[in-house]
Amino acid sequence: MGYHRSDYAGKPVIAIINTWSDINPCHSHFRQRAEEVKRGVWQAGGFPVEMPAMSLSEPFQKPTTMLYRNLLAMETEELLRSYPADGCVLLGGCDKTTPALLMGATTMDLPTIFVPAGPMLRGDYKGGVIGSGSDTWKYWAELRAGTITEQDWQAVEDGIARSPGHCMTMGTASTMTSAAEVLGFTLAGAASIPAPDSRHAQMATLSGKRIVDMVWNDLRPSDFLTEASYRNAVVAVLALGGSTNSIVHLIAMAKRSRIALDLDKFDALARETPVLANLRPSGTWLMEDFYYAGGLRALLGRLGDRIDTRQLTVTGATIGENIAGAVVHNDDVIRPVDNALIPKDGLAVLRGNLAPDGAIIKPAAMEQHLRRHVGPAVVFESYDEMAARIDDPALDVDENSVIVLKSAGPQGAPGMPEWGQLPIPKKLLQKGVRDMVRISDARMSGTSYGACVLHVSPESHVGGPLALVQNGDLISLDIDARRLDVKISDAEFAARRARWQAPAPRFTRGFGAIYLRHIQQAHLGCDFDFLAPDGDGAAAGEPEIH
Ligand code: FES
Repeated sequence: MGYHRSDYAGKPVIAIINTWSDINPCHSHFRQRAEEVKRGVWQAGGFPVEMPAMSLSEPFQKPTTMLYRNLLAMETEELLRSYPADGCVLLGGCDKTTPALLMGATTMDLPTIFVPAGPMLRGDYKGGVIGSGSDTWKYWAELRAGTITEQDWQAVEDGIARSPGHCMTMGTASTMTSAAEVLGFTLAGAASIPAPDSRHAQMATLSGKRIVDMVWNDLRPSDFLTEASYRNAVVAVLALGGSTNSIVHLIAMAKRSRIALDLDKFDALARETPVLANLRPSGTWLMEDFYYAGGLRALLGRLGDRIDTRQLTVTGATIGENIAGAVVHNDDVIRPVDNALIPKDGLAVLRGNLAPDGAIIKPAAMEQHLRRHVGPAVVFESYDEMAARIDDPALDVDENSVIVLKSAGPQGAPGMPEWGQLPIPKKLLQKGVRDMVRISDARMSGTSYGACVLHVSPESHVGGPLALVQNGDLISLDIDARRLDVKISDAEFAARRARWQAPAPRFTRGFGAIYLRHIQQAHLGCDFDFLAPDGDGAAAGEPEIH
């Protein structure tokens, strides 16, 4: 390779784990960013080594990137274990890449900096601003309702993703990169910088410089990942109006740090945390606006003592030091607490006889008249059945119905895809209906919206109560009471359970078979059971060097 011994001898070896791929538009600038990280590493006296890793490309990987989050986490961990890295810089951002990279790096516990991909620029359509995902779903519904043409739809597609970077709504990508920053994994302010901005390239170079110092100082994730830093991350996610997916990911990430984080903690914090970021899908603006308004540093400043500012970060300084002097430049984008976008309940955890281990809803992004609703179930046993029948004019459904999808959970789909924003039947769209109660064991894109109950646990495929719901059963949703129930008697429940038969597993070989054998339920974070940290780390072991 042409390196002289003096290029590397005695220098920290910095692994740059790069999830660039031709098939991942969100990471299309990562070849360049990797060079910028290397520039920083060289300058600081380190030896950079770029290592490609699996790219989880949200738009293209089927059935869902979630099927592969743990595989990328394992790949990250094993790359760092098996090669002689002293520290690492992780390049990720498209939804699952952030938790996957961080889970692997947390377990390995080498000095680590995360370089978030950054959001893409605002979308443009007919002189107006459009946002990733959120406006796709919106205009898709209009196309199905017949209120826009195919050409309009094409123009939406052409204008919605016009630069490198991840989705620029407060979807899963923006939520998780912001969570990574709050946990301490990035340089101050890194997660809010738009991908094409020159300051994003600067951040990459500075990250390369910083990781070398971190190696010499032996500053590791275990030095800054604490119960308080995870609590900070949850509070920030809630104040951002963040994605429901972050609940699954943060629970899994916290487990890698041996820190207990559960649905009840999310719900308790949601009851007292105001949504301050006026960003789609809950609000109006986009990530580019958020950056110009002061970004995450300014938002954290507005949260005051809701954030424990004593927590350490990769900068070697505390969060408090990192956000000192941050200013809000636009009070509509980053709201003050006394004019919050939503005073509380950005997310809510539901329980009841339909979801004994919990379910999630995002009250911030739904029509509020549905907060308390009782309606008859319209049940689909699978996605294929739903796709085939949802627009059937003969389907017995009205705006009071509750649409139920089964077999969409971690085992059932498998992979727990983002099918949870179940389509509204065409005949109701044409009547002007734009929201109704929908329930599934799936996830929902962080850019989605609507009265969609998600992550029902245990899932239907393993015999959770959702499996027993039938057409016409009355389902009751009460967000303020945090309840989700099906109104059938215990005796009827028991009779249906006695008749229920477990479906055959979808995969019997390959990675899919490993996945089905070891995946945990949504409320536990969907990690593989065998990836839980063992007592002292010895079981994974370090490689023998001969
Ligand atoms: Fe990559 Fe949305 S498609 S973040």
